[in-house]
Amino acid sequence: MTDAISHQAPEMNTAPSSKVRVWDPLVRVFHWGLVAAFATAWLTADELQPVHEVAGYTVAGLVAFRLVWGLVGSRYARFAQFLKGPGETLAYLGDMTRGRERRYLGHNPAGAAMIVALLVTLSGTAFTGWLLEDEARLAMLPTIPAIVAPAWADDDGEHEYGARGEIEGPLKEVHETLANLMLLLAALHVGGVVLASFRHHENLARAMVTGDKRGPGPADIA
Ligand code: HEM
Ligand code: HEM
Repeated sequence: MTDAISHQAPEMNTAPSSKVRVWDPLVRVFHWGLVAAFATAWLTADELQPVHEVAGYTVAGLVAFRLVWGLVGSRYARFAQFLKGPGETLAYLGDMTRGRERRYLGHNPAGAAMIVALLVTLSGTAFTGWLLEDEARLAMLPTIPAIVAPAWADDDGEHEYGARGEIEGPLKEVHETLANLMLLLAALHVGGVVLASFRHHENLARAMVTGDKRGPGPADIA
């Protein structure tokens, strides 16, 4: 961060060299491991099934780790530090549209809401993939949640197989829809990271690599 840029943003009057550790090593390994595992699962879907499944289970394991780390991890890894209610999140989005949202040292409220959406959708994708792999697992669900029940309405719970032996059926539709939703959410997430990086004159992607961010200015929320 150069002096010139600091002058443009009055709230950032900390010395350019003052860096603080925000993302601990496990958050960073989790993040880039998740990106790699998700990309691998996506690219190998219906092409290289054994790799697809290992990548999908890796996603599930990473998400499970993150849920635990959100309770016992370092300050900025904790859900209690960054999860906000709807009021604060909407107020933040409103400030964003007016270009006057404050800088958060950890996750901002919109980023935090996106993290919840990403973790929930990833869990659903991995879970429906696991169910798909062996239809006997469906029997473990005593009642099918109302949200997916219509998809099963005309189905007897058995998979059908297409001409090339691929699995067909409503469960696969749900799995694919969740995977497609993930692509949309990931695109919005990266868009949000780029936008916040420009707004606050800092490279947030690099911070997710090094773990460090510019120290908080007086107007920032640490
Ligand atoms: C190359 C593309 C990506 C970049 C540059 C990127 C960058 C980042 C950055 C900078 C943060 C911190 C955001 C903040 O400051 O509030 C973050 C958080 C996060 N990202 Fe990404 N991201 C990318 C792709 C993805 C993808 C594809 C996923 C999901 C599969 C993902 C899931 C997450 C999650 C769950 C967090 C929360 C991290 C934590 O607190 O543990 N990201 N990402
Ligand atoms: C969370 C990461 C995952 C993503 C992003 C993902 C994505 C996808 C996508 C996009 C398809 C559709 C492929 C097509 O065009 O036909 C698919 C199919 C499938 N996935 Fe996943 N998946 C994930 C996890 C898993 C897991 C954990 C398993 C099982 C252990 C699994 C098992 C399957 C199976 C059996 C199919 C059907 C393949 C066929 O057509 O024969 N997936 N997945």
